[in-house]
Amino acid sequence: MYIKINGKKVSAKPEQTILEAAHGIVAIPTLCHHPDLKVKANCRVCLVELKNGKLVTACSTKVKDGMEVFTDTEKVKRARKINLEMIFAEHEEKCPECIWDKNCSLQDYAKKYQGKITRFKDRKKNRNIFGFSNTILFDQTKCIDCNNCIEVCHKQEVHFYDKAGKGADSIVLPTKNKKYDCTTCGQCITHCPVGAIQGNPHWPEVEASLKDKKKIVVAQVAPSVRASIGEEFGYEPGTVVTGELVSALKKLGFDYVFDTNFGADITTFEEAGECFECLGKGKMVTTSCCPAWVKFVEFNYPEFVGNISTTKSPQQCLGVAVKTYFAEKMKIDPRKIKVVSIMPCVAKKFEADRPELEYNNMKMVDYVLTTREVAHMMRRAKIDFTKMKPQKFDDPLGQSSGAAAIYGVSGGVMESALRTALDYYAGQKLKSIDFKQIRGLEGTKKAEIMVKGKKVKIIVTSGLGNAKKVMDLIKAGKENPHFLEVMACPGGCINGGGQPVPTNAQIRAKRAAPLYVLDKKSKFRKAHDNPGLKKLYKEYIDKHPDLHHEMFHTSNYRQKRWGARRLN
Ligand code: SF4
Ligand code: SF4
Ligand code: SF4
Ligand code: FES
Repeated sequence: MYIKINGKKVSAKPEQTILEAAHGIVAIPTLCHHPDLKVKANCRVCLVELKNGKLVTACSTKVKDGMEVFTDTEKVKRARKINLEMIFAEHEEKCPECIWDKNCSLQDYAKKYQGKITRFKDRKKNRNIFGFSNTILFDQTKCIDCNNCIEVCHKQEVHFYDKAGKGADSIVLPTKNKKYDCTTCGQCITHCPVGAIQGNPHWPEVEASLKDKKKIVVAQVAPSVRASIGEEFGYEPGTVVTGELVSALKKLGFDYVFDTNFGADITTFEEAGECFECLGKGKMVTTSCCPAWVKFVEFNYPEFVGNISTTKSPQQCLGVAVKTYFAEKMKIDPRKIKVVSIMPCVAKKFEADRPELEYNNMKMVDYVLTTREVAHMMRRAKIDFTKMKPQKFDDPLGQSSGAAAIYGVSGGVMESALRTALDYYAGQKLKSIDFKQIRGLEGTKKAEIMVKGKKVKIIVTSGLGNAKKVMDLIKAGKENPHFLEVMACPGGCINGGGQPVPTNAQIRAKRAAPLYVLDKKSKFRKAHDNPGLKKLYKEYIDKHPDLHHEMFHTSNYRQKRWGARRLN
């Protein structure tokens, strides 16, 4: 069928909305609409005019053959302006302190339609700011009541938000029901259109550390960030900007820039050994590198806490390597070192604060900056990212394998562990090290592989909603995998709660694809082949065998409800 948009003939499918049909042809402003979620049509900034003069919401109105739509008439502009003013009656502008500043649709629309802020009754009064799990900040004074956070948190099977009141007085708030606790996955952050939910900001402390001449400030960069941070500076999703990122971090003042991929190789090496050992004992092992998953298990499936791999996550393994091996090599007091992780993730902030992960009574990761936060710092420092001359990661913790590159996407951790478990620990000759059965962005993938003549069952799942389904089947004895990989964010860290917005299925696929290209192009594609890793084990671990376990493992996870605290 055909419709006309602003006089232009456009082909459309009957199931499409006007917004979908207009995609790539004309930009229609949206706030509450998110392609991952149900259509709610409550912000009304996407209004368009039909030929008969009727105003309709483009995100919820289905196309009809011959329909004529106008997206920019005076009537449309007037209506959008009024609706924006109503939104500003709810949303308190805190732009200078907001990390969405200058990268915010609401800010852009406010400029474009010049909405006056004072016309409607201020509904921000009596609203509060809450902190959850020492990691998430929920600011009701910025909330425009679109309900996206409630829906996405339900999809994650966490159910941490409630709604109170009716109509214009309704309000989103953290649940008081003690059955539920936030996992800090951050999916509500990336689905909030107005920055009302944020990760606890660490950038002010990092800025202060960078100015402190007595401190050695070390950055580490997570696998998926290199394929997503470019979006903050106008690059297409999936553009790999590793070298530019290293340069920009040096320009910000970091003394050393290491690669979390090195930490991922440590995690793989340790975890593959653990999996191999547990296989002999018939014990299921589930991955530990996603802190939101660990928290989900602790709170919802405490009987499975013993199945969580004891191996620490890549950011923690790298942090330990920096404050032990690197500090000793460089003759630096580890207490003078500040390790700053650049992560796609908000849950890593929570993980960095876990006392169970301290070593020598020291935090191994001092601060965690999300992809968005570090981009915000670069904008504040007026760094032109697009003009950065690519640089390499620093030695000795900058080298990594292809297996580490794919940690950023669902299935990557398992594939990396299988390469090392089979090749190194089982001594099996592998015809191919590509485990394509567990690649892809669908929710749950299953595979069976032979290890030393034994059939090994593997399940890989992402998104906590999918993980819950799998766990309920395991609990009921209807599934019995040997190895289970779970990433809390649908698709894995490429879609993490700290990643740039917007996110949708196409963007996730674009961010995932280059990680497999990086793997394919790597000189070493198995973690245990990384020469830097071999050196670390030879020069440090072999000399301190008594420290090995404590450096890279922990098993002290326990159930705790953190609830929500009012902060104002
Ligand atoms: S961070 Fe995740 S678990 Fe916590 S409230 Fe948001 S969506 Fe729910
Ligand atoms: S916090 Fe954000 S996502 Fe949640 S209802 Fe408010 S505006 Fe919507
Ligand atoms: S999937 Fe990745 S980004 Fe999401 S919570 Fe887990 S570790 Fe963080
Ligand atoms: S985007 Fe259509 S009503 Fe909000």
